[in-house]
Amino acid sequence: MCGIVGYIGNQDAKEILVKGLEKLEYRGYDSSGVALLNDSGLHVYKEQGRIAALREVIDEQEQAKVGIGHTRWATHGKPSRRNAHPHLSNSGRFTIVHNGVIENYEELKARYLLDIPFASDTDTEVIVQLMDKWVESGVAVENAFRQLFLEIKGSYAVALLDNQDLETIYVGKNKSPLLIGLGQDFHVIASDALAMLQVTNQFVELMDEEIVILRQTSKRITNLSGEIVQRRPFYVKLDASDIEKGPYPHYMLKEIDEQPVVIRKVISKYQDITGDLVIDSHIRAHIQKADRIYIIACGTSYHAGLVGKQLMEKIADIPVETHIASEFLYNRPLLSVNPLFIFISQSGETADSRGVLVAMKQLGHITLTITNVPGSTLSREATYTLLTHAGPEIAVASTKAYTAQIAVLAILAFDSARAKGIKVDVNPVHELSIAANAMEIMINHKEVMEEVVWQYVNTSRNCFFIGRGVDYYACLEGALKLKEISYIQAEGFPGGELKHGTIALIEEGTPVIALVTQAHVRANIRSNVQEVKARGAHVCMISIEGIEEKEDHIILPAVHEWLTPLVSVVPLQLIAYYAALYRGCDVDKPRNLAKSVTVE
Ligand code: F6R
Repeated sequence: MCGIVGYIGNQDAKEILVKGLEKLEYRGYDSSGVALLNDSGLHVYKEQGRIAALREVIDEQEQAKVGIGHTRWATHGKPSRRNAHPHLSNSGRFTIVHNGVIENYEELKARYLLDIPFASDTDTEVIVQLMDKWVESGVAVENAFRQLFLEIKGSYAVALLDNQDLETIYVGKNKSPLLIGLGQDFHVIASDALAMLQVTNQFVELMDEEIVILRQTSKRITNLSGEIVQRRPFYVKLDASDIEKGPYPHYMLKEIDEQPVVIRKVISKYQDITGDLVIDSHIRAHIQKADRIYIIACGTSYHAGLVGKQLMEKIADIPVETHIASEFLYNRPLLSVNPLFIFISQSGETADSRGVLVAMKQLGHITLTITNVPGSTLSREATYTLLTHAGPEIAVASTKAYTAQIAVLAILAFDSARAKGIKVDVNPVHELSIAANAMEIMINHKEVMEEVVWQYVNTSRNCFFIGRGVDYYACLEGALKLKEISYIQAEGFPGGELKHGTIALIEEGTPVIALVTQAHVRANIRSNVQEVKARGAHVCMISIEGIEEKEDHIILPAVHEWLTPLVSVVPLQLIAYYAALYRGCDVDKPRNLAKSVTVE
């Protein structure tokens, strides 16, 4: 949520900052801004809407070698120019960008700033006004900046400029991610390395409660007590094709298409020299010791966690509970005696999941993060990490990260079964490869899903998805995809549950997408389909080879029944994509959403 960038060096900061913000737009896109600092002072440009709108208002002639920038996902104060960052202090001396939430901003306002008029409705402005107040009362800038972090509670990644000092960016971080990028005669800051790959691939990660005095050729990192921190840089290995759209009209379509390759990559990353799929032996040992696994996640990753529960229980005979992180945090179930916690998160930054991770670590439990982002907060803070190797996912709606999560969970389940001596009558590499091929076949027949959209979904105000077991979980994901990018009200239901209430919503023409890939419930779901058809529903039936019927609309290529969620989600993703496209929605950046949800 929100992205920040900064530059201090020899080049013109403006273009580097704006290009960086374009790469961070996935973190929030309701307004953006930059502050440029030069001999004539601080120049702040901001605008509501996308970075393209910001480009329009920036004075092309303004040259500066120091600057900071921000792209916003609103928490405090509605999306508007007034609430866009950077925020200026009343004297005009300081300006700040901030990602996160200052939980005690009202308390701080009441204690220190009652006499100060505020220019925005944000929590952030408190920080910059406090700087003004303390520095005016004689405190040195660096001391005032340090004092800030002793006072504020919450999550923050901040960058501050002082118009009386052209040589410094003041940086601070707690809970929200922030990196310092290193270059020849320059430094940059960024919420995500992607933003600054344009100028460097060498970064230093900041840890919680660290402050940096950043200059063109030096950086001093300290903790809140003022002790110097030394940290090695790391290199980001990504090439441009990983983060560019190439010939695709949207990142989402590119990422849907990449899924078969991603699954094959996941297989190869977890294969040993004999070709078997293996998991780190320490993780395996903890899984063997656990009497119950708790999977914690949000949104799409939660849906992958539901599939993961089925895989672990069916293949490895291990009891699993899957929980929504934000619910688990404040309504914790009774835990088993020896639990193991698995966190699933594409970004590895999700605040709700992190809250649970921190709480479970405090209780001394072993934690494992399954994530797409090496070095992310959830990865760093968990005892162990398994990477999903999906490559950067830029579209806000998650697709390839989801199927990669399921593939890793399947590998974990197969590995756990073998470790327990359970005889599994399938070759996991073979079955996962068949699933990757089946995904490819669906991807190569996009016109079928496009047609489904025209026939069933496009002009409707709602859409229901029904299935049983893992098909129900895929329905939850299909419904989430459709609602988040096309804004059609969509819900996934277990087929048997309709008659207990939801069927009241079915009327003449209501679109229902029904999924049947599990032989043992095929008769049940087909009879649920008859129930909704009898009430006028317009049903699109998705089945799988082996249990298909000739009037079914989409027939998935046969794959092992454990792995059908990898394949059945592909048509659902494509249906959501085409629905959003034909309704004129912004496919990659749906309204009100952001890719990395770093607030609770
Ligand atoms: C939906 C989507 C979200 C995320 C959720 C958790 O397409 O992407 O529902 O799955 O915000 O994010 P991560 O996986 O980064 O923890």
